[in-house]
Amino acid sequence: MPINKEIKKVTTHTLQKMKESGEKISMITAYDYSFARIFDRAGIDVVLVGDSASNVMAGHVTTLPITLDQMIYHAQSVIRGIDRCLVVVDLPFGSYQSNSEIALASAIRIMKETGAHAIKLEGGDEAVDSIKRIVSAGIPVMGHLGLTPQSIYKFGTYTVRAKEEAEANKLMVDAKLVERAGCFAVVLEKIPAVLAKDVTNEVKIPTIGIGAGGDCDGQVLVMHDMLGINTEFKPRFLRRYLNLNDQITEAVQHYIRDVKSKDFPNKDEQY
Ligand code: KIV
Repeated sequence: MPINKEIKKVTTHTLQKMKESGEKISMITAYDYSFARIFDRAGIDVVLVGDSASNVMAGHVTTLPITLDQMIYHAQSVIRGIDRCLVVVDLPFGSYQSNSEIALASAIRIMKETGAHAIKLEGGDEAVDSIKRIVSAGIPVMGHLGLTPQSIYKFGTYTVRAKEEAEANKLMVDAKLVERAGCFAVVLEKIPAVLAKDVTNEVKIPTIGIGAGGDCDGQVLVMHDMLGINTEFKPRFLRRYLNLNDQITEAVQHYIRDVKSKDFPNKDEQY
């Protein structure tokens, strides 16, 4: 495919420069072509093909059921809508935890079959071998610490993580470990803002927060939450920019009324 030289692509190096210059990084999830295209054209820096697809696209209660094949399908769809921003794809539960060889094989499948630019995986010291192996194969890796939804049955709840000193200290150690292992950035999910600030100051790579306060180098939100498609999920950290659930309901009810009353289609809307 010819490279369009006019478009300034966002790379992992761009994100590093943004951290260094103090420009905040914007990241949002997407799972399909149409939304990815809108977000890319709106100017977002990073699109994450999150395993939250398991919840918001497939209706599962957790992120655990989504498969590598399903993540690849979503990532292939997203990539077709992207001209400019960096696309990161989650390695789903079960595709990397067994050992670093399996982790690398899963990461290679994502890069080869989707055209995405990087992968993300959850975990600190337990993920270091896999991060090193994937990075040494030339694949950029984003880390993910704090509330890591693939471990929800270990945590038991989705409450704020690392409020106690021991867990906060471990998170700081993990952040330095994933940085040293080669991660180009790290997501910090649902941890106290002061801890996220300390981590952001201690590591050189960008931190991307979700429920981790305003001092992270960037922010990420799940598109269905911030657009108000999914109205049941109301954590304190979420800012809703639209109420699409109500707007779509009203539009569809309007359409139903027009069909029933024979108002749609009218003479100008037929051949
Ligand atoms: O899967 C996802 O959407 C994520 C974000 C919450 C960071 O990992």
